[in-house]
Amino acid sequence: MAEMIGKRLVLGVTGGIAAYKAAELARRLVKDGAEVHAVLTRAGAQFVTPVTFQALTGRPVWCDQWDARMPDNMAHIALSREADAIVIAPASADFLAKLAHGLADDLLSTLCLARACPLLVAPAMNRQMWENPATQRNIRQLREDGIIVLGPASGAQACGETGMGRMLEPEAIHDAVAGFFQPKTLAGRRVLLTAGPTFEALDPVRGLTNLSSGKMGFALARAARDAGAEVTLVSGPVALPAPCGVTRVDVTSALEMHAAVMQRVAACDVFIGVAAVADYRPVERADEKLKKDDAHDMLRQIALTANPDILAEVAARPAPPFCVGFAAESRDLERYAEDKRRKKRLALVVGNLLRDGLGGDENAVILFDEQGRHPLGPAAKIDIARGIVAHIGAMLTGKESHKESL
Ligand code: C5P
Repeated sequence: MAEMIGKRLVLGVTGGIAAYKAAELARRLVKDGAEVHAVLTRAGAQFVTPVTFQALTGRPVWCDQWDARMPDNMAHIALSREADAIVIAPASADFLAKLAHGLADDLLSTLCLARACPLLVAPAMNRQMWENPATQRNIRQLREDGIIVLGPASGAQACGETGMGRMLEPEAIHDAVAGFFQPKTLAGRRVLLTAGPTFEALDPVRGLTNLSSGKMGFALARAARDAGAEVTLVSGPVALPAPCGVTRVDVTSALEMHAAVMQRVAACDVFIGVAAVADYRPVERADEKLKKDDAHDMLRQIALTANPDILAEVAARPAPPFCVGFAAESRDLERYAEDKRRKKRLALVVGNLLRDGLGGDENAVILFDEQGRHPLGPAAKIDIARGIVAHIGAMLTGKESHKESL
């Protein structure tokens, strides 16, 4: 996966303890193919030295407006003109205030003012500084000026306090920057997804589940968000972090997943059922842990009852959203997937031939729609997810232009 090949980024590092995380961000962006030009403020260089960024980016680092290495002394123009985006991480309260007022008293603020490209900032500061009305006013101003504000997150802070103001983790900033460059094929659409396995309890510690990792569903949530959609992800029990900006609803059982979906389905345009929902659940659930020698042994013989088919029920609504199903099969993929598409009345089925079981980072799928079959991959799950999202976007646009021409 090298999503940012050919992208030229200016990475601005201002003075905050989160500057140490900017080194990891630089490494991730470079690994993803981006050309990264680090620009440090004086305070930023107090926290991490320019040498760190030089080593990680393989390029000269810029700290000074009067740097003699630039022949015409116009570093602020040269660096900002050729950039596809400027990313400031961490962005201190002071630097955000400067940006909001258009100050240009050092190299980084000058090149932000002289830019002709998008600007993304990842604020990092003490919670009280974040909550200060002046900072909040500046953030509103920056948003109004079209600057993209990533985070901040809430949690433990270097000062020992806990609250809002922590910089997003490098992985989340990297994902947001990569997503920023994606085509907005689902702009304005509301997408509801299910992901992961379900867990059907037998007693407080035991239950029936499956090996779904949730990776494909989470990758799709990220791809849909990057395509401009408003995304809600109903997830079974998995240990994955939700992509930032995605509304996450955690559930355990199929019945909980069903309820969570039904509560939200009327407000979505696209429903994607990626979850491996258990088809059956135990008829009874013991309140106390079952003992192996209990007279009435629910462990030796488990009576099961069918779970609702969430996807089929959504697709059968009077005014259903655009419905996408998944078919993971270990044989006869084409037959089963096409069958599922027709029976459940789905616009699209993503067929997945289970060769190495579930849980890998790569995948190869075939999309089945009324036009036929469209193979995707093998590729990383995020690339497969972007391909599926692009296909959904194209189908939705096609449907609308067809409606308009009638
Ligand atoms: O019929 P089958 O379970 O193979 O269909 C798989 C598709 O249906 C997946 O998209 C899955 O998320 C969805 N599904 C569901 N509710 C169920 C079973 C499957 O939404 N109870």
